[in-house]
Amino acid sequence: MGTHHTRSLWGLAALTAGALAVFHGSRRSRLPSWQGRVVLITGGARGLGFALARCFADRGAIVWLAARHGDQLDRAVDRLRLPGAEIHAYVVDVRDREAVESLVAAVVARHGRLDAVVNNAGVITAMPFDNAELSDFAESLDTHFWGPLHVIRAALPWLRRQPISHIINVSSIGGRVGVPHLAPYCAGKFALAGLSEVLRAELAGDGVWVTLATPGLMRTGSVGNVRVRGDHVAEARWFAALSATPLTSQHAMRAAGEIVMAAGRRRAVVMPGWQARLQHAANTLAPELTAAGLQAVSRRVLPNAVPGPSPSRAVSDLDLGWAAPLVSAVTARAYNQPVPSAS
Ligand SMILES: NC(=O)c1ccc[n+]([C@@H]2O[C@H](COP(=O)([O-])OP(=O)(O)OC[C@H]3O[C@@H](n4cnc5c(N)ncnc54)[C@H](OP(=O)(O)O)[C@@H]3O)[C@@H](O)[C@H]2O)c1
Repeated sequence: MGTHHTRSLWGLAALTAGALAVFHGSRRSRLPSWQGRVVLITGGARGLGFALARCFADRGAIVWLAARHGDQLDRAVDRLRLPGAEIHAYVVDVRDREAVESLVAAVVARHGRLDAVVNNAGVITAMPFDNAELSDFAESLDTHFWGPLHVIRAALPWLRRQPISHIINVSSIGGRVGVPHLAPYCAGKFALAGLSEVLRAELAGDGVWVTLATPGLMRTGSVGNVRVRGDHVAEARWFAALSATPLTSQHAMRAAGEIVMAAGRRRAVVMPGWQARLQHAANTLAPELTAAGLQAVSRRVLPNAVPGPSPSRAVSDLDLGWAAPLVSAVTARAYNQPVPSAS
C-alpha cells in the first residue's frame, strides 16, 4: 500500500512537471514579436523612458514618445531614429485627461491600432515629511496615479481590439516599500501598484496583459531633475550619491531590457535590481526588522527637517560637494538628460 502510494505521488509529480513544461513552452512559443506593433511611452524623452524606447525600437516596434518638453522630445526622436526605426513624439502633460485623449486619438489616427502603453512619466521631490507640502502629494498622485489612469482609460478600447496587448506600469520599489523622505512619491507609486494588480486580474480575460515594474534606483542620469525641500544641499547630496553608485543603483539600460522582456512574457511583476528585490523580500519576511532599519536610516543618516516652510529646489541648481564626483555627465548624456552646457 505504501509503495503504491509513493508511486502515485511520483506519477502525480511527473504529470505536474510535464504540464508545467508544456504550459511554459506554449507561453514561450506564443511570445509576441514587437515588430510593427505600436507602443506609446509616457516620459519617453529621457531617462528610463528613453531606454525603453530604444529597446522597443530595436525589436521593431513603432514607438510614440510623450512628455511635456518638446525640445527634449525632438532630441530623443533624432537620437532614436536609426535605420528601420519609426519614432514619433507628442507633447503632453499626462495629468491633463483631455490632452491624453488627444494623444491616443493621434496615435490611432496614424496607425489604426495601439498595442502597448508604458506609463513611465514620473517626478520626484525628496524631503522629510515635516517639510512636504500638500502640493507635493497632489503632484505625485496626479502624475503617478491619475496620469496612468487617463492613459489606460483612453487606450483600453484600442488595446482590447488586439488579440494580445500590454499595459506596462512603471512604479518603483518605492511603490512596494515606504522609503523615508519620499512620502509623496511613495503615495503615488503605491497607488499605481495597487491599480496595476486589480487591472491585471480584470483585463487578462480580454488579452490585455498588465505588467507592474517596480525597479530600484537606476542610473538614468535623472538626479538633476529631482526636487528637494528641507536641508536642500544635504538632501540633494544623499539622493545624488545613492542614485549614482553601482552598489546602490543599477544600469538603466539593463532594467529597461528586463521590463520589455517581462512584458513580452506577460509577467505580472518585474522588479529590476537586486537591491530592490532584497528590500522587498526583507519587508515581506521581516517587516518589523525592516521598519527598524529604515527608522535608523531616517534618524541617523538622512538630514533633519528644517523649521517652517521650505521652497522646492532642483538638484541641478545645488552644490553637490562630496557627491558631485559620483554623478556622471556621460550617463546623463546617454539617457538624453538636459546637461548644463558648462559640464
Ligand atoms: N531613476 C530611478 O532611480 C527610478 C527608480 C525607480 C522608478 N523610477 C521611475 O521610472 C520613471 C522614469 O524615471 P527617470 O529616472 O527616467 O526620470 P526622468 O529622467 O526625470 O524622466 C521622467 C520623464 O517623465 C516625463 N514627465 C514627467 N512628468 C510628466 C507629465 N506630467 N506629463 C508627461 N511627461 C512627464 C519627463 O518629461 P517632461 O519633464 O518633459 O514632461 C521625462 O521624460 C519614473 O516614473 C520614475 O519614478 C525611477
